Amino acid sequence: MFASLVLLWLFIWIAILHLKSRRPKNFPPGPLNVPLLGSVFHLSLENPLKDFEKLRKSYGDVYSIFIGCKPAVVINGVKAVKEAMVTKAADFAGRPQGLFVNELSDGKGVIMADYGSKWREQRRFALMTLRNFGLGKNSMEERIHDEIKHIISTLEKNVGKTMSPKVMFHNAASNIICQVLFARRYKYDEELIKLFVEVFTEVSKIVNGPWATLYDSFPIIRNLPLPFQKAFKKMEIYKNLSRRMVSEHRETRVPGEPRDFIDCYLDELEKRVDEESSFSEEELIMYSLNLHFAGTDTTSNTLLTGFLYLMNYPHIQERCQHEIDRVLDGKDRASFEDRHNMPYVQAVIHEVQRVANTVPLSVFHCTTRDTELMGYSIPRGTVIIQNLTSVLNEDGQWKFPHEFNPENFLNDQGEFVKPEAFMPFSAGPRICLGEGLARMELFLIMVTLLRRYQFIWPKDAGEPDFTPVYGITLTPKPFSMKIQLRTPQ
Ligand code: HEM
Ligand SMILES: *[C@@H]1O[C@H](CO)[C@@H](O)[C@H](O)[C@H]1NC(C)=O
Ligand SMILES: *[C@@H]1O[C@H](CO)[C@@H](O)[C@H](O)[C@H]1NC(C)=O
Repeated sequence: MFASLVLLWLFIWIAILHLKSRRPKNFPPGPLNVPLLGSVFHLSLENPLKDFEKLRKSYGDVYSIFIGCKPAVVINGVKAVKEAMVTKAADFAGRPQGLFVNELSDGKGVIMADYGSKWREQRRFALMTLRNFGLGKNSMEERIHDEIKHIISTLEKNVGKTMSPKVMFHNAASNIICQVLFARRYKYDEELIKLFVEVFTEVSKIVNGPWATLYDSFPIIRNLPLPFQKAFKKMEIYKNLSRRMVSEHRETRVPGEPRDFIDCYLDELEKRVDEESSFSEEELIMYSLNLHFAGTDTTSNTLLTGFLYLMNYPHIQERCQHEIDRVLDGKDRASFEDRHNMPYVQAVIHEVQRVANTVPLSVFHCTTRDTELMGYSIPRGTVIIQNLTSVLNEDGQWKFPHEFNPENFLNDQGEFVKPEAFMPFSAGPRICLGEGLARMELFLIMVTLLRRYQFIWPKDAGEPDFTPVYGITLTPKPFSMKIQLRTPQ
């Protein structure tokens, strides 16, 4: 009896959803709505690549699916992605609002901020600050090299042995952001960093999972004591920690002499105290979480992918090492400027980012007004999903779209060239805000480590598995590496 009532109730819901889920006129085509399965986040966990591949084959580069009962547009291929993100930038630079991820951050921070003056102000401030104009004496390169010393001390203990690099790279990426935000680093076992990691993992799991989809699809269940409430609790813990950090900074800062991002922000807050501005302490707290969140898994997963490939393509590793030895001859360390003399290393790092495909569906966008794309009409407020994978592997855009090959970024003269389909950071006004920092990290870390060590795929490790684990960011399957000291030639 109970079961049939539930079934009936479900049936009615599905019927209602079905009626509500209609595509607007001249909207990109796509499959019928299958209620409750309509989330990309949800589906992406079970690796639905084959399903989506089929959709693209039947409906073309621009097609639509349903998230709950809202239609969303998926964009594939460099032509369509460029038209949306670059040519019609302002139309496509919004972010969906009112979703689980927005509620989690109280509408604060920059990642999920809608296109408008707050987002613009906050973003401009961070770009300036990260470009060193704000960070005082201690430059970004200095902060990265400080962290590299700690990577090296970990590796040094493992010379001649085999180790799993995952925690080390995660820790390093997290600490570099901590250096930028708070001018300090944390030992992995410190209470605070443990809490950070715990909050991140828990919250990502929930955001990735079916409960977030249900939250987005059925507003009536939002206040019920369901598993997604745990994410809100975890966020409170994080906010408390972050608040404590900000008040410590308030007590010890010297106005006009910022030590880090927090100090810069507090200076800015003071400057703007009389005007109506988007700067506030609550914004800052969410901002620091945003940067930490956006900058940790992305960078560390890219590094992991890099070493996974370099171990399995030893001739490419060796060629990098020769170039590094030649260019750094006699210097005690690499600087970011050296990249201009290292076309091969540059090509390898870009190729690593291309195959790593770290954020495959980017961050969802939203149209800011009624607009058009590739001849279809897309109303204001439509969720836009850019498929960066489809650009990074696109046939016709790359010399070797489906293999790991640095030639993808080298011309006939061996010079470094960047094809327009290289978009691991997306494109247009919403392009990754940390691109500069991320590129500097990847370069300095990879060059410094390759100069000093040889990385070897362990003999007993079997055939490498390059297939990543799905999620908002792609993660290589766990692997170990053997570390050997090398003598620079
Ligand atoms: C290899 C490393 C990284 C990759 C592949 C990556 C990729 C991306 C992508 C694809 C987006 C979405 C862009 C869009 O919506 O169109 C994004 C946004 C963003 N990233 Fe990164 N990212 C990386 C590292 C970082 C780092 C180190 C930081 C922190 C400093 C950072 C901060 C951000 C922020 C704040 C946004 C939101 C920008 C906005 O909405 O205006 N990212 N990133
Ligand atoms: C956060 O701090 C507030 C005020 O100090 C306190 O009431 C609350 O219980 C704390 N929450 C958590 C989860 O620690
Ligand atoms: C993105 O593109 C890749 C490569 O073309 C494809 O395998 C995948 O199914 C696409 N994903 C979506 C959501 O369309």
